[in-house]
Amino acid sequence: MNILITGANGQLGNEMRILSAEHPQHTYIFSDVIVPEDSPVTIHPLDITDGEAVSSFVREQNIDLIVNCAAYTNVDKAEDDEATALKINADAVSNLGRTGAKIIHVSTDYVFSGEACVPYREDDPVAPNTAYGRTKYAGEKALLAVCPDAIIIRTAWLYSEFGKNFVKTMIQLGKSKTELGVVYDQIGSPTYALDLAEVIFAAIEAPEWHAGIYHFTNEGVCSWYDFTIAIHQMYNTMAADSYDDAITCNVRPIRSEEYAYRTPRPHYSVLDKAKIKNTFGIAIEHWADALTTCMLNLCSDL
Ligand SMILES: NC(=O)c1ccc[n+]([C@@H]2O[C@H](COP(=O)([O-])OP(=O)(O)OC[C@H]3O[C@@H](n4cnc5c(N)ncnc54)[C@H](OP(=O)(O)O)[C@@H]3O)[C@@H](O)[C@H]2O)c1
Repeated sequence: MNILITGANGQLGNEMRILSAEHPQHTYIFSDVIVPEDSPVTIHPLDITDGEAVSSFVREQNIDLIVNCAAYTNVDKAEDDEATALKINADAVSNLGRTGAKIIHVSTDYVFSGEACVPYREDDPVAPNTAYGRTKYAGEKALLAVCPDAIIIRTAWLYSEFGKNFVKTMIQLGKSKTELGVVYDQIGSPTYALDLAEVIFAAIEAPEWHAGIYHFTNEGVCSWYDFTIAIHQMYNTMAADSYDDAITCNVRPIRSEEYAYRTPRPHYSVLDKAKIKNTFGIAIEHWADALTTCMLNLCSDL
């Protein structure tokens, strides 16, 4: 198959690129809105909000399947510019869905209110209360309206060795600060983008196409505070050559009210993964094991 990976320069896009080497039976075409000069592969410039450009690109490149890793992911900026977020997270997704190619699209736990206390199932009622969540939910609806055969995978707390994310920020803050407050009353499941890329390949390689909405994160739950402690401990074990290099920052558990969030964050982001495990016959790694793998990859670059 000819597989188009949009948003190839993002966290998930880069992990799809890494993993594509293990699936050489397909031809991969990578695209993004901005083409980085130092990319290890050819990335085609393609703004997915440009419907005509999308349809001619898919036709000319004979694309059979699209994995949409492109998105407007800045939760705070989306509050100020919901129109742009909607263009990228919904209108553009509809452009991709209209091409006639099969599509695997990625969505988010932000479609839910975050007020539950048991893991969200795929058919639980959505109630986004941020601009980002509203635009991502609009994207799901827009896609299913033009391409009912789509696969949509909702995920949460995504990180990788590429791009900006919580893991890299906590390493940097841990090294530069002596004290750090991190919230303990928001609970979720961190997701290593490489593991999400693996399940996307499981869906691509499945003997049958299983359209529908799925939930995927790594196994286990934690708070942002727990996650930070694990990141710092792993950093000190793997990367610090001496006590001088070690992260010695004192991390304090704080409540969400004590942190000046511009946008409300969900208190509960845990997703029920039974459907994706049963449908594709996959086992999912615990978040702490997945973090170990990512930290090993990150620390080898330090
Ligand atoms: N990050 C998380 O914690 C998280 C959580 C749950 C779900 N998700 C979902 O997971 C998916 C992957 O997220 P990610 O963290 O890998 O995202 P990311 O790192 O922000 O990557 C998104 C990529 O899409 C590109 N893009 C933006 N506008 C575009 C356009 N008009 N045309 C083409 N490409 C465009 C971005 O380019 P620029 O950087 O130049 O804008 C970026 O390279 C997204 O659907 C996201 O909503 C993410």
